[in-house]
Amino acid sequence: MRAIVINEYMHPSKRTVTNDAPEPTLGKHDILVDVEAAALNFFDILQSLGKYQNQPPFPYVLGAELSGTVNPNSPIPKGCRFKPGDRVFGYAQGAFAERVACDHRTFHSVPEGMTFDQAAGLSITYPTSYTGIISRGETKSGEWVLVHAGAGGVGLSAVQIAKALGAKVIATAGSPAKLEICKKVGGADEALDYTKPGWQKEVLRITGGKGVDVIYDPVGLIKDSLKCIAWKGRAVVVGFAGGKIEQLPSNLILLKNISVVGVHWGAYIKNEPEHVPEVWKGLFELFESGKLIPAVYDPPYIGLDSVPGALVDLESRKTWGKAVVRVKETPQRAKL
Ligand SMILES: NC(=O)c1ccc[n+]([C@@H]2O[C@H](COP(=O)([O-])OP(=O)(O)OC[C@H]3O[C@@H](n4cnc5c(N)ncnc54)[C@H](OP(=O)(O)O)[C@@H]3O)[C@@H](O)[C@H]2O)c1
Repeated sequence: MRAIVINEYMHPSKRTVTNDAPEPTLGKHDILVDVEAAALNFFDILQSLGKYQNQPPFPYVLGAELSGTVNPNSPIPKGCRFKPGDRVFGYAQGAFAERVACDHRTFHSVPEGMTFDQAAGLSITYPTSYTGIISRGETKSGEWVLVHAGAGGVGLSAVQIAKALGAKVIATAGSPAKLEICKKVGGADEALDYTKPGWQKEVLRITGGKGVDVIYDPVGLIKDSLKCIAWKGRAVVVGFAGGKIEQLPSNLILLKNISVVGVHWGAYIKNEPEHVPEVWKGLFELFESGKLIPAVYDPPYIGLDSVPGALVDLESRKTWGKAVVRVKETPQRAKL
């Protein structure tokens, strides 16, 4: 089988596709999935370099988010609700391959009308943003939400979810093209270039001097953003794409009676598993109602050989939304 096999750590730009990778080994809860599309995450780069918190033993296959069909010869474990040929998506180590072993308990059916490209990138960013905006940020209809890196994978999903809830969104991004994506694809009400000093004054102007009720931050800009948070606002720490973990002076939290909360989607499975199906129920309702349409970077990357270049594009901030590699190079078989 073709796959990106890791036997030693190196930058993903130097990786090549192996043509004779071993077939996946299936555990007792696993089904075998023929990969149609695999989504990219920043942690794929870290894992390729050996710098991620989760480093499987050598040899392993890179990639973690995918969509595909249950292989015709897949075993069907007890309690599994899928059958061969079903369209599924989820999170499994080894997504940059033709086939992958997937724990059926963490996989979902691809929603009707959704393409494999769209479904490939659903399993991490959308539940993270749903939990961050709704459970942790406690966003209410009519409130102002500031979403940093609003054209990125996590950011764009947060913009869409906040808008679907009826909130008003100010998105930030680092280039005119990405500001356009925040508005056109995400539906943000306003979009600001956060590389320009003084963007907080713009936020205050837009919100009539009140500031934003919720800050959603995958970059590491909480401290700067507290200049434009409203009384009793909620700041949600999502990630540190900017590369630095911030230190916050706690007097800033006290002065405006604000809350600073975190979201770590992966930790819910261990600490609060009952939250996970609630989030997916909410997301599926939004997908099915058409209020939430997953945004995929266009044009898509075609074929496993495009993975190294695609990861370089992700690292250099070229992509927007979810960057996806179409592993199966034949046309999509989505029911549109
Ligand atoms: N807490 C959780 O459960 C959870 C879940 C998923 C992801 N995350 C974290 O969220 C962060 C964003 O993930 P993502 O999937 O949205 O990534 P992404 O698609 O690569 O987007 C990140 C965006 O951050 C902005 N950015 C600002 N400074 C940057 C820098 N120095 N290098 C790269 N990008 C920079 C870029 O937008 P501009 O070009 O517009 O500045 C970029 O588009 C990551 O830190 C990730 O680990 C957390």
